[in-house]
Amino acid sequence: MSFKFIALTRPLIGKKEINAVTQVLNSGMLTQGQVVSIFEKEFSQYCKVKYAIACNNGTSALHIALYSIGLKPGDEVITTPFTFVATANSILMVGAVPVFVDIEPFTFNIDTQKIEAAVTKKTKAILVVNLYGQPADYDRILSIAKKHNLTVVEDAAQSVGAEYKGKKSGNLADIGCFSFYGTKNITCGEGGMITTNNKHYYEKSLLFRNHGQDEKKKYFYSDIGYNYRLTDILASIALIQLNKIKTMTKKRQMIALKYDKILRDVNGITTPFTAPNRTHVYHQYTIKVTKDFKLKRYALKDYLYKKGVQTNIYYPKPLYEFDHLQVGKKQKSYPITEAVTKECLSLPIYPALKNSDIDYIIDLIKKI
Ligand SMILES: Cc1ncc(COP(=O)(O)O)c(C=O)c1O
Repeated sequence: MSFKFIALTRPLIGKKEINAVTQVLNSGMLTQGQVVSIFEKEFSQYCKVKYAIACNNGTSALHIALYSIGLKPGDEVITTPFTFVATANSILMVGAVPVFVDIEPFTFNIDTQKIEAAVTKKTKAILVVNLYGQPADYDRILSIAKKHNLTVVEDAAQSVGAEYKGKKSGNLADIGCFSFYGTKNITCGEGGMITTNNKHYYEKSLLFRNHGQDEKKKYFYSDIGYNYRLTDILASIALIQLNKIKTMTKKRQMIALKYDKILRDVNGITTPFTAPNRTHVYHQYTIKVTKDFKLKRYALKDYLYKKGVQTNIYYPKPLYEFDHLQVGKKQKSYPITEAVTKECLSLPIYPALKNSDIDYIIDLIKKI
């Protein structure tokens, strides 16, 4: 007897990725080499930025970026409390202090109306997250940054391929950070990338990725650094994935449209909202299960699971509620973050998701 099981996410890996890995394994060059360089070049061309620096995951990309913009202990960085913990941890990793600002109710991104109230003499940067695959409001963010002389960092871990006013994510701020973790829109299991047009940030990033060593002068160190290098094995997978990004993104957008059409009319369910002037690449398709729905959010999650549908809650708790991040709770209240953490539920979305499975999921929710 077979049970129905529809996973929340699944990477689209085919023969090309397998062949690419085999080629690298046969080459004898397994560490960071030519394939990483090609991947960096193609990624920079894709985002239309001058520089791209590959690294071993999205968290190290953030750590490298925050180091390269020159953050120092005690500096404050404004960010969102509704994100994966790596965003805020990377601020702590350079000794700086996260300062959380509430989010918008429909895009789930940082509320630009509330940013200026959080700026102090110590504020040095804004770390923006394009949550679930939708860019934040960069015009507004960059104008606040200009006024207060702040650097803007894009946490683009979830938004590869997304656009704001026709510009690609990764090219929307001073420096961008990507993740190629197993669930991401393009993946090589674990991987990351930093993108920038700033030569100084680029050079600092190269040093920090590789023990503070000058790339042309091995065993000479100008500062502390880490081993954050990507391997050619993984870069070969990511390169193939990058070449498929257009069709994979289209597929995600089509699935979202299919969900939208029916679920937006279900009482108590709020479907995702895409703000004007941007494209959403649906790293997650996240609905809000409000009090008007027949089942509570966790009851709906359990029900779907029993019917063979995996869902998840990104994220169940605001980051300032965790002990090590309480320091960032500077606003009196975070009403939108509080509400959204209680209502959000992400449904299966990935390029290989079958139409019949989408219909099945929609039907289950509609029938409740
Ligand atoms: C918003 C965000 N930032 C940072 C990261 C960290 O990336 P990684 O898991 O590759 O370290 C992730 C993903 O996991 C993420 O979703």
